[in-house]
Amino acid sequence: MLGAVLVAAGSGTRLGANLPKALVPLAGRPLVRWAAESLIDAGIASPVVVHPAGYASQFRAALAGCQVAALTEGGDTRTDSVRAGVASLAPDVTVVAIHDAARPLMPAAAVRRAVEAVKNHVLAAAPAIAVADTLKQVVGDDVVATIDRRDARAVQTPQVFRRDVLDTVLGHAGHATDELTLVEQALERATMSGVIRLVDGSVFGHKVTTADDLRLLEALAMADLGTTVRVGSGFDVHALVELPTRPLRLAGVAIDSPLALEGHSDADVAAHAVADALLGATARGDLGDHFGVDDPDTAGADSLDFLREITHQLSTDGWQIANVDVTLVAQRPKLAGYRAEMRSRLADALNVAVEQISVKFTTTDHLGMIGRGEGIAAMASCMLRGRER
Ligand code: CTP
Ligand code: MG
Repeated sequence: MLGAVLVAAGSGTRLGANLPKALVPLAGRPLVRWAAESLIDAGIASPVVVHPAGYASQFRAALAGCQVAALTEGGDTRTDSVRAGVASLAPDVTVVAIHDAARPLMPAAAVRRAVEAVKNHVLAAAPAIAVADTLKQVVGDDVVATIDRRDARAVQTPQVFRRDVLDTVLGHAGHATDELTLVEQALERATMSGVIRLVDGSVFGHKVTTADDLRLLEALAMADLGTTVRVGSGFDVHALVELPTRPLRLAGVAIDSPLALEGHSDADVAAHAVADALLGATARGDLGDHFGVDDPDTAGADSLDFLREITHQLSTDGWQIANVDVTLVAQRPKLAGYRAEMRSRLADALNVAVEQISVKFTTTDHLGMIGRGEGIAAMASCMLRGRER
């Protein structure tokens, strides 16, 4: 059986973020989630994820909806973190992939090539890329010699091992920046014999080390995500009545008004129109299908919770919200002063930046039911970026 350990217990000193590197978002999702999904896409179900001490709940949240076998605490060095992860693997795992959370975009095809190589009787295998630059051996900044680049490869992860080989080399004390090194040392000591094979890696397997790497990968991720876009639209209207039991709520903001909207939930038409736009973009039916009026749980519900739940489902399925544009159609009350707060509440619920959310207001010039102040309507459109799976 195939198993995987995703090492994510480093602090990310060279990146310098204020949270562990694996939790830093790339195109809206944490690095560790991207890396876990690339393993899962390659057919390695349920990786063991190794996280820094004290961060279990943040990692659980970052991986919500992703099938992982276990979360376990890492050690002071990478090799100790690998040891901790391997200790949590099921006993029937016979081939193990060790992957860096810091390589979010490794394509599933490269992962599969390394796995296939190990199934075909090598001790270990990893994806690697040819080096295009001329390589110099240096002392400090001074050149000592030129290394023939044809004799070199830049090695990536996942590095894949026969379980018995990995258990043996991890059983020795010692540390390395990758696990192939540990097998090389065993071959040098002649305590083991066999082949370590490199297979074709990918520039998408680039590792996040510094802020520049993150910018580079962000551009790659967006270019890739941008290949599929979806638009959605939503509309809702509720009656505006005297309702002493609750305030008027629009886009999650309590509006100062003696009147409120009638409805089963909090009747937030703006949130409902946005929810329908998001559901519509991916053809998931409408709000009533997901949070029906017969559901007692949704009576008086905070409609921003609907948006949070939909956002979570979309992100789990690989969709990013690019923008949302809402128009509130209301003759009364006056809404102009609420725009900033509405944008910020929606952005928070949708887990995007305020700049991605637009809120507009209009009246109907006293025409029709809305114009007589009998109701408030909202319409919304959105664009999603994503990958078809
Ligand atoms: N790693 C780990 N446990 C450690 C050190 C590193 O699990 N004690 C993991 C990192 O989380 C990362 C991978 O090994 O996914 C590669 O390490 P690196 O890129 O060096 O990440 P960090 O150690 O977090 O970064 P830095 O060296 O800049 O602090
Ligand atoms: Mg490190």
